[in-house]
Amino acid sequence: MKITVMENAAQIGEAVGKLFVDAIQKKPNIVLGLATGASPVPTYQYIYGECQKGNVSLKEVCTYNLDEYVDLPKSDKNSYYTFMHKELFDHTDIAEENVHFLDGNATDVEAECKRYDEALSKAGVDIQLLGIGRNGHIGFNEPSSYFTKGAFKVKLTESTIEANSKYFDENPMPHYALTMGVGSIMQAKKIVLIATGSAKADAMKAMIDGQVTPSCPASILQFHQDVEVYMDKDAAKLL
Ligand code: PGA
Repeated sequence: MKITVMENAAQIGEAVGKLFVDAIQKKPNIVLGLATGASPVPTYQYIYGECQKGNVSLKEVCTYNLDEYVDLPKSDKNSYYTFMHKELFDHTDIAEENVHFLDGNATDVEAECKRYDEALSKAGVDIQLLGIGRNGHIGFNEPSSYFTKGAFKVKLTESTIEANSKYFDENPMPHYALTMGVGSIMQAKKIVLIATGSAKADAMKAMIDGQVTPSCPASILQFHQDVEVYMDKDAAKLL
């Protein structure tokens, strides 16, 4: 695990953004696993900035997002589909048919998860971007007694609901989501994780220094061959 501690979120966004831009320049049809939440936003700003300057094109890039809320219309301002378009895709030349999400409104959840897992393993993710929950979740893989393999429907924990409900001012936050499994995340050739703020300090300590245990899902990353972690001083304060 390569660990980099930086001053602030803006610096991390630039460093991780550069990493992604370099990777896209080297392999224009790269397959990216993408994350939502506050952590990746500066990275996305860097990437679309470079795209707008003509330094990189996302025309052939293919993306798979980690997760999506259940029973939230795709067009809702809080759906991760909307988030990704607003924070990244709409400011780039990416082709809409190349962006992929789990369908949180699927009637047959099992079939939907199977479809996504098959598409993911066929595509093969080159770089997976991750944030981390205060409770050590990656994607929406919440602390549990076992590591998940493929995509599934998850009941969100109180910690996650508390962290994310600030975005839901009109309708209540969904308590269920579909998420890529830990096993699928681990299939990515390279993983880049971003953590900022002291609320993430316990999770970062458990992920890096703790035992590999499903009670901190991110700890499984200790077993991956190519993980880069970028965090600010507050997230690193217990290390
Ligand atoms: P955040 O969420 O980037 O908004 O802190 C990260 C996560 O819950 O995985």
